[in-house]
Amino acid sequence: MWSGRFREPLNPAFERWQASFRFDVRLLPYEVAASKAHAKALAGAGILDEQELATMLDGLERVIPSAVEEARKLTGAVPADAAPADLLASALPSILLLNPQAEDIHHFVELQLTTLVGRLALKLHTGRSRNEQIATDMRLFVREAIDHILSGLRQWAMSLVHLAERSAEAVIPSYTHLQRAEPVLLAHWLLAYVSMIERDISRFQDAHQRMNLCPLGSGAVSGATLPLDRTIAARELGFAGPTPNSMDATSDRDFMLDFTQAAATLGLHISRFAEEITLYSTAEFGFVDLPEAFSTGSSAMPQKKNPDFTELLRGKCGRLLGTATALAMLLKGLPLAYNKDLQEGQEQVFDAAGTLAGMLAILPDFTAALCFRLDRMHQAATTGYLNAMAAATYLSNKGVPFRKAHEIVGNAVRLGLETRRELNHLKLEELRTLSDVFADDFFDAITLEATLDCHDVAGGTARVRVASAVAAARARLGDNT
Ligand code: ARG
Repeated sequence: MWSGRFREPLNPAFERWQASFRFDVRLLPYEVAASKAHAKALAGAGILDEQELATMLDGLERVIPSAVEEARKLTGAVPADAAPADLLASALPSILLLNPQAEDIHHFVELQLTTLVGRLALKLHTGRSRNEQIATDMRLFVREAIDHILSGLRQWAMSLVHLAERSAEAVIPSYTHLQRAEPVLLAHWLLAYVSMIERDISRFQDAHQRMNLCPLGSGAVSGATLPLDRTIAARELGFAGPTPNSMDATSDRDFMLDFTQAAATLGLHISRFAEEITLYSTAEFGFVDLPEAFSTGSSAMPQKKNPDFTELLRGKCGRLLGTATALAMLLKGLPLAYNKDLQEGQEQVFDAAGTLAGMLAILPDFTAALCFRLDRMHQAATTGYLNAMAAATYLSNKGVPFRKAHEIVGNAVRLGLETRRELNHLKLEELRTLSDVFADDFFDAITLEATLDCHDVAGGTARVRVASAVAAARARLGDNT
C-alpha cells in the first residue's frame, strides 16, 4: 500500500501488531458501500469513464459474495445454508484468513477487487485516503448501530408500557433513601423507566443527526486533490451532506464519543432497573418472581434461583462506561489531524454496540415475563404509615399550615407506633386530642385510593394521571398492538 519509499522490510512482529484487519474486518460492508460511492464521485470528475465505472461497481458488488465463497472453500466453516443476514457475520472469521497480509479493511477490499477486476482496481484509490475512509466507515457503522439500538429501546419501552397497562391499579411502595415513602401505582414505577428510555432514545437520535455528514473527499488531511463533487458520495451513502472541514473530518471521533456516552447513560439506566429487580426478587422484598427462563440455579445450593440476568446487566454498565472513558482518553490532547492512535477507538465502539445489542435482545422478553407479587406489594404499600402525607394533606386542606399539620400527623404516627396500629385504626376521639380539625371524613382521605389520588398533578401517581400517562406513552412510542 505504501512500500514505495521504504528500503527496509517491516519488522514482522510490528507489522502484525499494528494491523487492524483482525477487528476492522467487520467494516467490510461499509467499506464496500463507501468505495462504490467514491467510484461514482470519480466518474463524476471524469477519472473513470462509463465502462470503467460499470466494471468497478460490478467488481465491488462481487467483493462480499466472492470473499464468502472463498472463505467457505478455505475453511469449510461457513455454513452453506446460513441466512443471508448471518452469512457475512459467520464468514468474517474465515474471511480474515483469506488475505493475512492485509493491513486493514481498506487494503483487503483493494486486494479482493484487484483479483476481480485487475489493474482497474488501482484507480479506485485516486483522490482518496484511508484517513477519510476509516472516518466514513465508522460513521456508517455507528449510524447503523444507533438504528438497531433505537429499535431495541422502543421494544423494551413498549414491554414496560404493556406491563403498566396490565398492572391496572396494582400498587408498590415508593422509596426515598430506600425507606418506604408513599404508595404509587406499579404502572407509575414502570413509566419512570419509560421516561429514562425515551431520553436515551432522544440522545441516540441526536447523535445520529449530528454525525450524519460524509467525510469522503477530505483526503488525507487537506481535501481531495481532485475536483470531486462531494455531494455525490454523500448522497449515495444517505448522509445529509459533506463534512465542512477536511482536517476535522479525518480526525473527528466525536460521533463515536457521543455514541459511547449515550450507551453509557443507557447502561446506567439499565443498571438501575436491574438493581431494583434484583432487590425486589429477594425474599426480604418478595415483590417479584424471577422468570425461571432467565434465572440460573446454584451448583451447590439446590434451593437457589439466582438473578444472573439482572446481575450481568448491572455489570455490563461498567463495561459500557469503560468504552466511553477509553475513547475520551484517546482523544485528549490529540493534535490535528489523523493520528494512528485513532485506530484504537474502533474496538471500543464495536464493544459498546455488541454489548448493548446483546442486552437489548433479551430485555423486552425478560420484562414481559416478570411476575409481580401484587399481594406482597399491596401489603407493603398499606402498612408503615405510608398514608401519613395524605393525612397531613387532609389537615392542610382544612386550613392547618402544613408545618403544623406535619407535626400533628407525626404525633398521630407516634401514637400508632406505641399502640401498634395504623393511622386508619386510630379512633376519632384519640385523633381529636391531637387536633380538633380531625372529623369523620378523615378516614376517607387516607384510604389507599385517596392516598394515590391526592397526587393529582401532571406527572403524579393519581390514578387518572397514570392512566393518561400510560396512554400517552403508548401513543408516543407509536404502538398500536
Ligand atoms: N486502520 C487505520 C485506522 O483505523 C486506517 C487509517 C490508516 N491511515 C494511516 N494514515 N495510517 O485508523
